[in-house]
Amino acid sequence: METEHKNNKRVYLDHAATTPPDPRVVEAMLPYLNTHWANPSSIYVEAQTTRRAIDQARQSIANLIGANTSEVVFTAGGSESDSLALRGVLAASKRRGNHLITSAAEHHAVLDTAEQLEIDGDADVTIITINSQGQVDPNEVAASVREDTVLISVMHANNEVGAINNIDAIAHAAREKNPHVLIHTDAVQSVAHLGVNVDELGIDLMTFTSHKVYGPRGAGALYVRSGTPLAPQALGGGQEERRRAGTEDTAAIVGFAVALNIASHERETNLAHERTLQRRLIEELPKRISLSGITGPTSLDDRLPGNVSAVIGFVEGESILLALDLAGFAASSGSACTTGSVEPSHVLTAMGVPEDLARGSLRFSFGHSNTDEDVNRLLNELPSIVERLRELSPIATTEAPAHWQPWLQS
Ligand SMILES: Cc1ncc(COP(=O)(O)O)c(C=O)c1O
Repeated sequence: METEHKNNKRVYLDHAATTPPDPRVVEAMLPYLNTHWANPSSIYVEAQTTRRAIDQARQSIANLIGANTSEVVFTAGGSESDSLALRGVLAASKRRGNHLITSAAEHHAVLDTAEQLEIDGDADVTIITINSQGQVDPNEVAASVREDTVLISVMHANNEVGAINNIDAIAHAAREKNPHVLIHTDAVQSVAHLGVNVDELGIDLMTFTSHKVYGPRGAGALYVRSGTPLAPQALGGGQEERRRAGTEDTAAIVGFAVALNIASHERETNLAHERTLQRRLIEELPKRISLSGITGPTSLDDRLPGNVSAVIGFVEGESILLALDLAGFAASSGSACTTGSVEPSHVLTAMGVPEDLARGSLRFSFGHSNTDEDVNRLLNELPSIVERLRELSPIATTEAPAHWQPWLQS
């Protein structure tokens, strides 16, 4: 796919939406698609091979995140893991309470699950605000913790603006108020980039997924600390120690483990490369486009490597994306999961970005195969696209309204 992009002179700048599978991952998966396809729960000898492959993948992933093997539950992806964490813990903790705390910046897999739990009367939900850079304040979380708080779910790194949260500080502050509270983090975007360790983060549950780390789509995991109450949400078979029923996708699980392993070994090189491209675009974009600004953390230390999010005044993000697509670029406006919707990003509006400016949001996310040349091309094309769109707009002026000022750098 990536090679195809290159040959067609297409530039893929949407690695936060999904990543191309690493050829080494595909190679490792093939035997489990072609030959070793037996149901791992069966008792015959063919099944022992697939069972062993899953056990090894679980062991490898557990080692990489500092967990025990029995604490890794395979799922079909990040959304399922988020849903299992919230629903599973609340359903198993009814005697302790039903208070759930989460943040306004979460992925919809968490926010919509929390909302549905509340509608169904299964949770009393508190949504914590975020600051203007997209981060959660540990003290705000602690201030919301009650005696009946069962679970706190705060993402490790935000998929739209790249803001990294201090999960350890959040967990610490919350437990000072109520030592029984359980902490879940969605580490879908951070697991490859930052190299997470469950003890260092101080969490009880963690969501991560294969297709954001150059693995295949269709495999994910939920880390569940030993002793954490969790009611299964998919019932039937006894797979995953009765925590998630369903015949395992051996090939996808093997690919997931190989992808995470590669990410771990090549982290430093990839990080440095993505930081270089990211820094250049963050510095240059506002210089080349009037009435624009970078959103998210100002310090790169607080920002996911590879993420560049921006707002551009007097243009619709979706219109820019269509024009960029025609010019050969694949990018995103806010979250890919909400592409097609005309609502401004819930993350940007929670940060305080005015709605009329948030409509002009863009997200670029770099990956291994991007080059300096990709950034050059983007910086050459984007200003003229914006200019063309503004010429068509009846409301565009050269002056920014006063309420945009704090968000613009040009
Ligand atoms: C932060 C975050 N959580 C959850 C998900 C959902 O993961 P999946 O696509 O594997 O279901 C995504 C995907 O965009 C994400 O970015």
